[in-house]
Formats: sequence, structure tokens, C-alpha cells
Amino acid sequence: MRFSIFAASSLFAVLAAASSENVTVEDLFIRDNNGIQSAGLTILPANVTCSGNATQLAGYAVASCGDSVYSFAVNGSDSVYSLRIYEAKGVGFGLYGEVTDLPVNCRAGGDGQDDEVCNQVGTIEATISSG
Ligand SMILES: *[C@@H]1O[C@H](CO)[C@@H](O)[C@H](O)[C@H]1NC(C)=O
Ligand SMILES: *[C@@H]1O[C@H](CO)[C@@H](O)[C@H](O)[C@H]1NC(C)=O
Ligand SMILES: *[C@@H]1O[C@H](CO)[C@@H](O)[C@H](O)[C@H]1NC(C)=O
Ligand SMILES: *[C@@H]1O[C@H](CO)[C@@H](O)[C@H](O)[C@H]1NC(C)=O
Repeated sequence: MRFSIFAASSLFAVLAAASSENVTVEDLFIRDNNGIQSAGLTILPANVTCSGNATQLAGYAVASCGDSVYSFAVNGSDSVYSLRIYEAKGVGFGLYGEVTDLPVNCRAGGDGQDDEVCNQVGTIEATISSG
């Protein structure tokens, strides 16, 4: 009895520990021209590259990162953006996290006065978890 309670709680601890991961984002860019036109980033340590266009990212929609288990979403305006990262772990189960106020530097993109190209200027770390 004692043993099975111990075994059960150990198993739970393993599952709980496995349901959170830290990822780092590099090379984030966002092109914003009265709405997000495109965005891209690399997720480490998996080293997965993600990109999406205006259609794919509209309304904080989730865009896939190639054929990987990761997907992402970008939202915001006027140099203030947020990023969501998702990692599929199995059918109906995955990890999710959001980073707000992304460290970016935006400059004129050249396609009208609202066009801006924003690049990452600081470390972005996200904890993604199952809940
Ligand atoms: C994620 O990073 C936080 C500190 O930023 C740390 O407390 C936590 O243990 C890390 N989680 C994992 C799964 O490495
Ligand atoms: C990520 O993969 C690219 C090739 O796709 C490679 O050039 C780069 O060195 C890798 N970066 C890391 C941090 O592993
Ligand atoms: C966005 O990418 C999708 C998939 O590649 C493509 O079907 C769609 O036409 C693109 N939309 C724009 C606005 O470029
Ligand atoms: C997305 O960004 C817009 C503009 O910054 C903001 O008004 C809206 O609340 C954001 N949506 C979500 C779901 O955070």
C-alpha cells in the first residue's frame, strides 16, 4: 500500500516535470504595416525555424513551424508585440506559453508611412507548459 502510493506519486512527479519546458527565441522579426504582414523566428534548443505571412498570422492565428511539433502566433501593433509558442506532445496534448512586450527595435520598412520592420534586440525566453 505504502509502496503503491509512493510509486503513484513518483509517476505523477515525472509527468508533471515533463509538462513544462523552457525555450529560447532567436532572430525574431515582425513586419507590420497596419497589421502584421509577416513574422519569423527560431526556437531553441530544438533549432526550429518558423515563419508566417499576413494570412497565416491574421487575428493571432497559429502558424505551423514547418513540419516540426512547434507552432507560433504573433500579435500586436506599434512596436508592442506578443508571441505565443505551442509544442504538440501527442494527440490533444501540448505545451503553450506566451511572451508579451517582446524586445524589438522597429524602423521604417519603406512601404508607406505605417510600414515597420522590427527585429529582436534582447533575449526572449518562454516557459511553455500544459497548464
Ligand atoms: C525554466 O526556467 C525557470 C527560470 O526561468 C526555472 O525556474 C525552471 O525550472 C525552468 N524549467 C525547466 C523545465 O527547465
Ligand atoms: C540551427 O540549424 C542551422 C541549420 O539549419 C545551423 O546552421 C545552426 O548552426 C543551428 N543552430 C544551433 C544553435 O544549433
Ligand atoms: C500565405 O501563405 C500561404 C501558404 O503558403 C499561401 O497559401 C497564401 O497565399 C499566402 N498569403 C499571402 C498574403 O501571401
Ligand atoms: C492583438 O493586438 C491588438 C493590437 O495591439 C490588440 O488590440 C488585441 O487585443 C490583441 N489580441 C489579443 C488576443 O491579445
